Parts: sequence; structure tokens; C-alpha cells
Amino acid sequence: MTTPTLPRNVLVVGSGGREHALVTALLKSPIKPRVICAPGNAGIEAQVPCFPISADNIPGLVQLAKDKSIDFVVVGPEVPLSLGLVDELNKVGILAFGPKADGARLEASKTYTKEILLKYKIPTAKAAFFTEPEKAHAYIDQNPGPIVIKADGLAAGKGVVVATHSAEAKLAATELLSLNAGSKESKSSILIEECLTGEETSLLVIVSGTEYIILPTAQDHKRIGENDTGPNTGGMGAYSPASIVNQELLKVIDETIVAPSVKAIAHEGIDFRGTLFIGIMLTPEGPKVLEYNTRFGDPETQVVLPRLKTDLLALLFAAATKTLGNITLEVISDVALCVVIAAKGYPGAYAKGEVITLLPLEALPPKSYILHAGTAKNKSDEIVSNGGRVLGIVALAPTLKEAASKAYWTCDAITYSSKVFRRDIGARQLRRE
Ligand code: AMP
Ligand code: GLY
Repeated sequence: MTTPTLPRNVLVVGSGGREHALVTALLKSPIKPRVICAPGNAGIEAQVPCFPISADNIPGLVQLAKDKSIDFVVVGPEVPLSLGLVDELNKVGILAFGPKADGARLEASKTYTKEILLKYKIPTAKAAFFTEPEKAHAYIDQNPGPIVIKADGLAAGKGVVVATHSAEAKLAATELLSLNAGSKESKSSILIEECLTGEETSLLVIVSGTEYIILPTAQDHKRIGENDTGPNTGGMGAYSPASIVNQELLKVIDETIVAPSVKAIAHEGIDFRGTLFIGIMLTPEGPKVLEYNTRFGDPETQVVLPRLKTDLLALLFAAATKTLGNITLEVISDVALCVVIAAKGYPGAYAKGEVITLLPLEALPPKSYILHAGTAKNKSDEIVSNGGRVLGIVALAPTLKEAASKAYWTCDAITYSSKVFRRDIGARQLRRE
């Protein structure tokens, strides 16, 4: 097979740590692409030109791609995907990595995903659907004990409540039904699920129609507090590989979850070309799907991409052009760990605009990186906080212990008055080693 010509003018859409990791990895491509980003953040801006067009401004992004002669767009977040950014880009002849709106629905609607999982008998938690609080409350009364309430639509990580008792579950059901009111996609519905127990793992799968490549495993740390306490967040840290998923378990996950999922999506008539991120709970009865996301995970991407030897641009382009068979995935043996520095108060209210003092690159431990998420520049050209998750501190090393000690050294050396981070990223795995 002839090697396809790779695109040279690349636009990355998004502004988080995930997009900073994507830009960094794309710049490493041997073809030396010209990369731009919209809207980006202070860290991305230091590497490539950024344009202040928000990720939900679909006409603005299409226009930018046309104006800048972009030949390949890599979409980071879920919102532009579900708003049909890829559909619109394709209409004007621009290739993109990321599913069209029909594929993005697998993330945008949890009831749709659950229907697919049940239809194709892919292991998942038992669930019931409700549109009225009274019926939801009656179901909760019939199913006492821990139970999970999920809003149907995209809710920026705030749509899932793992309730320990009935009163909490009923409150969540009422609140999540009202949260969705007015959303066209979700028609104010919720899902009430059996509460699964076990350890979670994130699997990023590059899908191209019926073909796919599983990227190295990763484990996120969803809760804000140490020892997995407090509310869920977008993710407070990650490491790769998730060693709990050994080759044998990965084979089971591939056979029972990944292959059937890719087949089901294609069977539904969706030509999916993007990342299928499968959230998996390793339950005592075997691995079960918690959710699908249709984009790279954040912060999983920050630990998965630095471990790829394979050119990311070639991989994403192959997925978008249905030539995934040309790609052999190569991974380095180093372990990667990322600690997220958040703003005090996150995932609730937090301050923005606080000055952050970073370290010069040469002061960092070897194989360490500072990825920006919610950061911006103020009028005095200082870096300031601009979001809930502010920075991702990444370190690579032969062992998880060394990676953690380097990442935490950097976390401690950064000055930022609202700085909070979990001290136990990777700790559960370290206790096992
Ligand atoms: P989701 O957005 O569906 O992945 O849910 C967010 C988080 O809520 C997951 O990462 C889990 O930590 C938790 N969760 C979701 N569904 C369940 C379930 N059925 N049982 C236990 N925990 C769950
Ligand atoms: N880290 C979880 C997510 O990206 O949804």
C-alpha cells in the first residue's frame, strides 16, 4: 500500500489540557505540520498561533479553517462534535478527526447509548428510563440501597449522581429532570442504574468504521478528594498504563466490549471516525461499560499520547481516511502520570484571574511537562487562572513511583494562590506494586 500524503495544515479545536497534549504530540510529527488552535490557552499559545473562536462557534470554526487553508481538523471536546462541526467541515471539503453528530450522540445522550448497549448485549449496568419524577421516585423506593441517577444530555460532568440512599437518589432524580428541561436532545429524561462496584479504567479506541486500534490503557481519578472522596470532577489526574488491565483482561475487554461496540456502531449506520472512549468498571462479574465518550479523555490523553512512538498525525489521519490498516501502534515502556492542578472550589465555584508562576522548562525534572488547561494571559502578559482545572503536570519514568515523585516535585514548585491537587494520583496502583 502506498503511504498517503499527510496533511500539513492542522487546526486543533479546544482549550484544555487534552488539546495542549494533542498540539504537543502533533508538533512532533516528522512531517513538521503547521498547527493552529482555537481557542487554545496560554500554554498552547506559547507553541502555536491561537484564534479566539470558541469551541461551540461552528460557523466561526469552519470559516477559520477555510481562511487558514486548513486541510485537517482535530476536534478535542464533545460540544462541537455534537453540534455537527465535523458534518459542516466535510460539507466544505475539509477532513476532520472526530465523529459526525450521529456518532457524537453516543456521548450526548446517555439513554441512546444505554439502548445500544442493551440491544447489542454489551455488558453494562441494568437501567430504567424516566421522564417523570413520581415514577422515578417509585422505582427508587422499590430499589433501595446505592443507586445511580444520570441526566440524559451533556452536563459537563455534573449529570451523574452516585446516591448512597433513597432520599439522596430522589433529590438527584428531581434535580436532574429539571436540569434537562428545555433541552431538545434529552427531552428531560433520566436513567436510573444499578450501582456497579469495582475499579474504573478508561480505554481510548481509535475507530475508523469497522476498524479500530486500542491505545494504551489509562486510569483517571474522578473524585475531587483524596481516597476518592467528594463530588465527581472532569478528572483530577491519571496514569498510563493502568496495570490492573493485564493482557489477559484486555483480551476479555476487547472481545466482550470493544469489538462488539465498534460492530454495533457500524451496524447502526454510523460511519464513526474518531476516538471512542469507553469508561469501564471492572466488576466482580467482569468488565462492564459505564459510558461511551466520543472524544479523547481529559486527563487520560495527557498520559496516553506521550507514550506513543507512532506519529499521532499519521494515526488520526488514517482514522479519518479509513486507512487504519496502514498503522502499527508502537508504545514506549515508560509510565506516564499526570496530576491536575485545579482552582480551589472546583467542581463548584472558583476564582479566575489569579497569577500563576511556573518554572522555566530547564528547571523541571527530566521528562516532565507542564500542560495548560484553564489558563490565559492578563494585560501585563502574566499567566493567570481561567478555569476549574488549570494545569496538568506530567512526568514520564521507568516506574510509577519515579513518575509520581517528579510530578509532585513540580506541583509543589508552582506558585498559585488557589492551587489544589490530589496527593494520591497513582497511589492505589503503587500500593499494589
Ligand atoms: P459516566 O459519565 O456515565 O461515566 O459517569 C461518571 C462517573 O460516575 C463514572 O466514572 C463512575 O465513577 C460513576 N458511575 C457511573 N455509572 C455508574 C454505575 N452504574 N455504578 C457506579 N458508578 C457509576
Ligand atoms: N476524564 C474523563 C473524561 O474525559 O470524561
